[in-house]
Amino acid sequence: MFFNNLSLMTGEKHKQHRRLIQPAFHKQQIIQYCNDMVTLTHQLLDDWQDRSVIDLNLEMKNLTQRIAVKTLFGIYNEIELNHVSILIERMTKSLPLVALVPINFPGTPYYRTLRIAEQLDVFIQSLIEQKRAQSDSNATDILVSLIDAYDEDGAKLSDEELIGHTFSLFVAGHETTANALTWAIFLLCQHPKVLVDLLDELAGTLHGNPPTIEKLPKLPLLEGIVKETLRLLPPASIGTRITNAPCNLGGFDLPNGSNIIFSQFITHRLPELYDNPDHFQPERWATLKRSPYEYLPFSAGPHMCIGWSFAMQELKVVLATLLQQYRFSVIPNTKIEPNLLMRPKYGMPMQLFRQDYRFQQVSVRGSINQLVDFPVN
Ligand code: HEM
Repeated sequence: MFFNNLSLMTGEKHKQHRRLIQPAFHKQQIIQYCNDMVTLTHQLLDDWQDRSVIDLNLEMKNLTQRIAVKTLFGIYNEIELNHVSILIERMTKSLPLVALVPINFPGTPYYRTLRIAEQLDVFIQSLIEQKRAQSDSNATDILVSLIDAYDEDGAKLSDEELIGHTFSLFVAGHETTANALTWAIFLLCQHPKVLVDLLDELAGTLHGNPPTIEKLPKLPLLEGIVKETLRLLPPASIGTRITNAPCNLGGFDLPNGSNIIFSQFITHRLPELYDNPDHFQPERWATLKRSPYEYLPFSAGPHMCIGWSFAMQELKVVLATLLQQYRFSVIPNTKIEPNLLMRPKYGMPMQLFRQDYRFQQVSVRGSINQLVDFPVN
């Protein structure tokens, strides 16, 4: 069931399923998710009260995971929320091992993964039944939207498809967003002037309150910071396509069925598209307009990320909420290196302080120094 994944489908079936899933990401629906994002971020802030050092990437992963489970399934009970988060996390971790050793025998990763998949199946199936039974409720989670969705022929998603899609939405969404949040905070720590301007913008518009949907469009620098982070360190740094007809691409004749690999990372650093491409300059987005194929952190075309507006909102809401209350400081001399999925390979250890505006850029080691031109201290 879990392998019934939207991104593995091709052609008409893929288009039809995208149409069915789309309502879960309509503007009205997205507005509802904002409150959940704020509430869960505040819970994290409470947990940090007695902490002075954190691995930011780990914390962001836990947060985006909880946001995903809550908005996908509408689970408000803490115990259930943790239970599902842990099951899905174990499932996603074991999937690569399944591909490596595809043998279903007690003790193998394959066997263990199937047991977790069964537990998740039972859990999501019971949620689907509960939600169908309360069809007149005001529930706003993604699962309810998917249950209610039907296309122009009246076709609805089967239970098996519902389970597969909720799982792929979870997998596609939470780690990418966690990595983007981690890099945004890291880049801000290393660019104190931008951070001061951002805090001024937040204070002037939010006055210490959490962000709301009405206020988000009034925070242009925050928007620029998110866009610039996704340009410099895009969580999906490469993509693939297969040609479905012979074509010419950049002067090369390609036969039908050719595999194409493209790179958001490289496109985003072309000097003909971006001045000072290795610099973090969020203010460039105040005037810069780029086509969907020149700026494509969420990819472009028919396979473009279905959750892009959800992700943009989550990035802005979480950053605005965290930064108003806490100051982060990179531990000096830490080795910082993104892998291909833009996860910091050695984590992102940070010191945590109540927001006191005492920002200081620090020296770090590792490949990040070749990827970003930091201001000279
Ligand atoms: C910063 C965060 C995110 C980034 C950078 C990102 C990036 C991407 C990219 C590049 C693709 C396209 C892959 C391709 O071209 O084949 C994609 C697809 C997808 N994303 Fe995202 N994504 C993010 C967040 C999310 C979130 C929050 C969700 C769900 C709530 C989500 C759900 C999906 C799904 C379901 C697909 C497959 C769409 C399809 O095959 O039609 N993503 N994402």
